[in-house]
Amino acid sequence: MTELTLGSFVAIAVAALLLLGVTFELAPAGGLTGRGRWLLAAALGAGLLAFAVKLLAIVAFSLAPNGWVHQTLEPVKERSDVDGYRTGIEPARKIRWQGLPLVAPFPADNPTTPAKTELGRRLFHDKSLSLTGDVACASCHDLQGQAGADGRPTALGIHRQMGRRNTPTVWNAAFQTRLFWDGRAASLEEQALGPITNPLEMGMPDVDAAIRRLAADPDYREAFSRAFGANDQGEPVTAERLAAALAAFERTLITPDAPFDRFVRGDTSALTSLQIRGMTLFESTGCIHCHAGPNFSAASQFDGSAPFRAFPARPVAGLERLDLTEDLGRASPGSHQGVWRIPSLRNVAVTAPYFHNGSVNDLKEAVSIMARTQLGFSIGETPSINVIFDTQPNPGVFVQQAGNITDSDLDALTAFLEALTSPRFSNSAQSSHPGARP
Ligand code: HEC
Ligand code: HEC
Repeated sequence: MTELTLGSFVAIAVAALLLLGVTFELAPAGGLTGRGRWLLAAALGAGLLAFAVKLLAIVAFSLAPNGWVHQTLEPVKERSDVDGYRTGIEPARKIRWQGLPLVAPFPADNPTTPAKTELGRRLFHDKSLSLTGDVACASCHDLQGQAGADGRPTALGIHRQMGRRNTPTVWNAAFQTRLFWDGRAASLEEQALGPITNPLEMGMPDVDAAIRRLAADPDYREAFSRAFGANDQGEPVTAERLAAALAAFERTLITPDAPFDRFVRGDTSALTSLQIRGMTLFESTGCIHCHAGPNFSAASQFDGSAPFRAFPARPVAGLERLDLTEDLGRASPGSHQGVWRIPSLRNVAVTAPYFHNGSVNDLKEAVSIMARTQLGFSIGETPSINVIFDTQPNPGVFVQQAGNITDSDLDALTAFLEALTSPRFSNSAQSSHPGARP
């Protein structure tokens, strides 16, 4: 911009010189009248103005972003180099794949600090937070052996009671904007105290009972003081702080180190060719619309993506035996369809069984169910046809070919999901037989 300022000073100075020159030199020499002087000055001035406009244009182009001016000078690509030309198909708009951030986001009022995460780790493993003293968060969320889940169809709580829902992994829960299968909690802080008083989980009569136990332990009092300081009443142990410490610890449970992450960060040897084919299918079949973004869940996105979806979205023959509609999640009672939070698919190969009721053991079967119910594909050689009756504005019917995917496509998709497993779970019980568990 300094060029512009300088330019305008020069223009004003030249205009003044011109005016002086006309008035005192040219006019007396040519014997011009007052009006003639103005005409001469204006004519010469117009030339000056045109020159200034050219200068301005040069300055403006030199400041403009490269693409505006130089685009046409780029070498034209060989046609056959460009994706899709050979087959005559326009390349589709491509998804930009991204790795998981190396640090989980935290709310302004609960920054992640070492003292807090250390306290949270201890609380997470402490069985004295349960009524019977034999169940900790880690009993159901086995961080190493079961990749943050429990390997059971549904959870096992105090007095060996069976819960209704499958235990999701806590790994990468830190990225979810919605927690639980039905997404009823909006933050880890909000979620953390739920299990302690859930009668089927840790069974405490109320949170205060848990707080009294912790406050009676001098070690805990000291650890809470170290993490939070004392509050106004001089009491270091409170329910809010218990939730904050558990949440802070859970924010350290992230896995940005899967082969997929290494691949998107530039190591092209991190995925097998089958996995890369699965990656293209994950995009082209439409899994990516729901399992979107680096955590493979639209419920992790802050861009207004819908975090919840109907599931099963279409009736599919043979699914009734899985009882997937016994529990309707966040749908209102009496609905014909359940509505669920879209889960993350990170480490999914080592967190069988699948779905909210843990009814499917095998990952490839889960993928096949997704392709059929959520996307309307048929598996095999014959494309499926969707017939949708409509009554508005007048009766009519839509007939669409939804397409088919093959068994080898399912293998490729499953192989791609295996690339989302962190190497830290390579020694865990299930990794040698993903999905094949009692
Ligand atoms: C008895 C087993 C059990 C115990 C003990 C337990 N959980 Fe869970 N946890 C579950 C189940 C089951 C769900 C899913 C419940 C639902 O969706 O309704 C869950 C869900 C979660 C989620 C949400 C994950 C997601 O992807 O939405 C988090 C986070 C979590 N638990 C943390 C904890 C913490 C912290 C504790 C200890 C204070 C704890 N859990 C104790 C079984 C358990
Ligand atoms: C329209 C949205 C949508 C689409 C498209 C979709 N999913 Fe899902 N997916 C979900 C929902 C919702 C669930 C949770 C179901 C439940 O609560 O039981 C889920 C669950 C899963 C699970 C089980 C996760 C677990 O931890 O139990 C897998 C695996 C999965 N999807 C893979 C895929 C694949 C592969 C595709 C593409 C072929 C796909 N999904 C397409 C919405 C979708």
